[in-house]
Amino acid sequence: MPVKTRQIGPCFAGEIDGIDPAKPLSPAEVDAIHAGMDEYAVLVFHGRPMTQKEQLDFTRSLGELEHSTGTSLRAAKDIRLPSVFADVSNLDKDEKPFLRDDRRRLFAIGNRLWHSDSSFKTTPAKYSLLHCLSVASKGGNTEFADMRAAYDTLDGERKALAEGLVCEHSQIYSRQQLGFMDLTEEEKLRFAPVLQTLVRTHPSTGRKSLYLSSHAGSIIGWPVPEARFFLRDLTEHATQRRFVYSHKWAVGDLVIWDNRRTMHRARPYPPEDRRDMRRTTLQGEGPTVSQAA
Ligand code: OGA
Ligand code: MN
Repeated sequence: MPVKTRQIGPCFAGEIDGIDPAKPLSPAEVDAIHAGMDEYAVLVFHGRPMTQKEQLDFTRSLGELEHSTGTSLRAAKDIRLPSVFADVSNLDKDEKPFLRDDRRRLFAIGNRLWHSDSSFKTTPAKYSLLHCLSVASKGGNTEFADMRAAYDTLDGERKALAEGLVCEHSQIYSRQQLGFMDLTEEEKLRFAPVLQTLVRTHPSTGRKSLYLSSHAGSIIGWPVPEARFFLRDLTEHATQRRFVYSHKWAVGDLVIWDNRRTMHRARPYPPEDRRDMRRTTLQGEGPTVSQAA
């Protein structure tokens, strides 16, 4: 079957047909997916639920896996999925939805803020691959914002200000924004900030984009309130509806996005519903900033 892509978002985001992600990929199919990602930054596959192995095989055929060890508040004994997956569900080890005030659920509400995956790691993520195994009765869309369009349309003054800036990113900052501050000393150490450039150049397209994320909490050399305001102001610009694609999930969907040039966020859904989502992640090329900086 020939591979076909078509744009479904406002200035990015495409749908792909003719590739079954649950089957081994040919080299031509791998090339078609990377080319589609370079063109659209978000690619939607409509398929059937995949096994863990099928999702892992598919992910590995596109690059180097990133592990999710230590990135959530789940203790080792209540991990539901192997650490090559990010568990994006609202389910505990017994497959039951977290209670409304469960600490793990409240931490995960951080995903409802615009972010780029693993921007809190020195080497942040390249692609994320999110697979839907069950949907909420309402809500629960995932929204994506095109950070290349955001960069291209930014006024010259803010573009010049942003150039060359370095930010500190940590999950502590994103959770602080939601008033979630009860982290243990061990968690605070584990979530220590890392540096990321505010403007980045895409390695395969050579195009610039804003590298924003709710994990960004300071700009090196700037007073904190001024930095947070600037980051918020840029985020407001970057997430205008004209730059946003909203994905309504169906069971079996697989959505791949390029974290190097998009942000995303989850939309709310009823806490008692089961929303089962499993993510694999590909590692990026390396730090965005030389750690000597
Ligand atoms: C993620 C994420 C959003 C969602 O998987 O990284 O942020 O809608 N997901 O679950
Ligand atoms: Mn995410």
